Amino acid sequence: MTQQPIENYLKQMTLEEKIDQLLQLAVPFFEGARTEGEITGPMQELGVSEETVRNTGSVLGLSGAQEAINVQQAHLKKNRLGIPLLMMADIIHGFKTIFPVPLAIGCSWDLSLAERSAEIAAREAAVSGVHVTFAPMVDLVRDPRWGRVMESTGEDPYLNSEFARAFVRGFQGRDLRNDTSRVAACVKHFAAYGAAEGGRDYNTVDMSEWRLRETYLPAYKAALEEGCEMVMASFNTVDGIPATGNRRLLRQLLREEWGFNGVIISDWGAVKELIPHGAAADEKEAARRSIEAGIDIEMMTTCYMKHLAELVKTGVVEEKRIDEAVLRILQLKEKLGLFDNPYRGADPEREAEIVFCEEHRAASRELATKSCVLLKNEGVLPLRRDQSIALIGPFAQSGDILGPWSWQGSTEAAVRLYDGLVAKAGASRIVVAEGCGIEEADDRRLEEAVAAAAGADVIVLALGESSEMSGEAGSRGDIRLPQAQLALIERLAELGKPMAAVLFNGRPLDLHGVADRVGAVLEAWFPGSEGGHAIADLLYGDVQPSGRLSMSFPYAAGQIPVYYNHFNTGRPKGAPDAQIRYVSQYLDMPNEPLFPFGFGLSYTTFMYSEPELSATVMTPEQPLTIKVNVTNTGSAAAEETVQLYIRDIAGDVVRPVKELKGFRKILLQPGETQEVTFEITEAQLRYHHSDLTYSSDAGEFVAFVGPNSRDAAGVRFILQK
Ligand code: BGC
Repeated sequence: MTQQPIENYLKQMTLEEKIDQLLQLAVPFFEGARTEGEITGPMQELGVSEETVRNTGSVLGLSGAQEAINVQQAHLKKNRLGIPLLMMADIIHGFKTIFPVPLAIGCSWDLSLAERSAEIAAREAAVSGVHVTFAPMVDLVRDPRWGRVMESTGEDPYLNSEFARAFVRGFQGRDLRNDTSRVAACVKHFAAYGAAEGGRDYNTVDMSEWRLRETYLPAYKAALEEGCEMVMASFNTVDGIPATGNRRLLRQLLREEWGFNGVIISDWGAVKELIPHGAAADEKEAARRSIEAGIDIEMMTTCYMKHLAELVKTGVVEEKRIDEAVLRILQLKEKLGLFDNPYRGADPEREAEIVFCEEHRAASRELATKSCVLLKNEGVLPLRRDQSIALIGPFAQSGDILGPWSWQGSTEAAVRLYDGLVAKAGASRIVVAEGCGIEEADDRRLEEAVAAAAGADVIVLALGESSEMSGEAGSRGDIRLPQAQLALIERLAELGKPMAAVLFNGRPLDLHGVADRVGAVLEAWFPGSEGGHAIADLLYGDVQPSGRLSMSFPYAAGQIPVYYNHFNTGRPKGAPDAQIRYVSQYLDMPNEPLFPFGFGLSYTTFMYSEPELSATVMTPEQPLTIKVNVTNTGSAAAEETVQLYIRDIAGDVVRPVKELKGFRKILLQPGETQEVTFEITEAQLRYHHSDLTYSSDAGEFVAFVGPNSRDAAGVRFILQK
């Protein structure tokens, strides 16, 4: 039972107390924190008084049950009205048990395992005192130069929306108040942060409202439909106005049109960043624009703290705006049960039991095996246990396999690839050498590697990007593997041995110098705490590779953005009547990506029958079904992801050449055939028209069913209305 209705708190709060409730500070500001008082760098310039800290509404970055309890205890003693702190943290793909990065999870196409990963992350975080996670990040991505693509599930609005829902369900469960092993979710970064120009982080985003609504907004909306409690505004501009100060985006679209009444938080420092953006002359204007736009919590800058009181007293900002924001924050605290139990799930004993426990790590291993994508295999894989293996490369024994967003994860505790292989085949069969650093070549290491490889049956290369080369502020203009590693491959290729490359990286790479030189490529991304075991499971065929790309691998960076659901153009390349030159193409490279969306191999092969429709005409009342038979024509039982795409032949606005509308994962024994049926409904054929209304048009469509976005066979049907 709540001691008093939260409106009573609001009534008793002074204007200053209300404004401080809107502030979020990092943990070193708080008494009881392990890092208490370590206020360095830009934090010093915030000008935060002890009184403000006492009234602050939320804290970010707390980790550990005892610390959370200590901070809350100290806070409650000092806060005049006894309003508990809301504790938030970035629990992106696991807390201490680290799961594969979200882009890898996207490649699993496995919504229930994704949900489970979020549930486990929530369980570990909640027992360690966290109330809200800054996740899921659902930004749609089409530019692998952007380092944060690893935080997204990929390039498709439908797939991203399904994952957004799964993550929200996993984090929040059904009853945040009573289920203290869950945390509230905060979907981010609203909106379209993934469309930064040139793939350079924090850069301008500019697109039509049509594009925004049709492609970029659906995943945020899906998260909110699933009940996501919070939204984080993005750093970028939308239509020339930074999202943080964008009234049309936050107040009109998110609040009024979508009816979102939860808390909106700025991103780190983003309120003050309105100044360098050129959208506010000073901190006072930044505060005014942000509160008017709808930002409730200012993260890690103090424009509200310094200027809102005066803005209210001089009548520039209505006090109502502050009250609404405070009420939303108090409501969230109430929803989480904090007024009754300010320590919520924090429990040092349980924490020691469940954080990084066997069960959680087993789930991470399972999801990692489903997230790796076999991109190429010319008979090199699976490995046999009687083969001698030379494991070569900077990732052979590296623990840097958790990814850039795993601040609580331990790279020391991560299972390295070498350990995974030894657990399968024994140390006597495996020689290991680094060959080079991630970016540094040296002759000594190179020759050592060549000598090690010379006596082996197979070379397994462990290559990639360090975790610092992707993630926030991790944009790259050249997305090939670093030269040192390309040189290593070239040198080892001279031995003429079968080679398989295992890649650890946070983005789709340009695989020139890799895919053309080795017989097999397994994209492992940053696979998480159990990475070495999961990859060894796949390399030895104990588990069948089943991952399918959720983001295209470009042929070269010059094609970017390259994505499967593009428009046809008026001069498509390859049309029967197309000219040779005056078509939409590059003169020096193909239009197609090297590996398309939906693509991935197994150690078996699948055959698809021609898709069959239940009828060729459908209506809104009478949906169609489309069916295919999928046969496992190889010798191993394996999972296949059967994908349904639709093309609308002519629309009011141009429609993509294909759009994912459904998928099904099936397990097939060798020789087994399964019939897979999808329903096609009128709702799936709707899109945003030029006047931004959302509906379908009567006319002709093509439905495609197949193993990926490139190789799906199509059949025509008509929608009659
Ligand atoms: C990132 C957010 C993150 C926040 C808090 C920012 O720099 O853009 O994704 O949630 O920091 O750590």
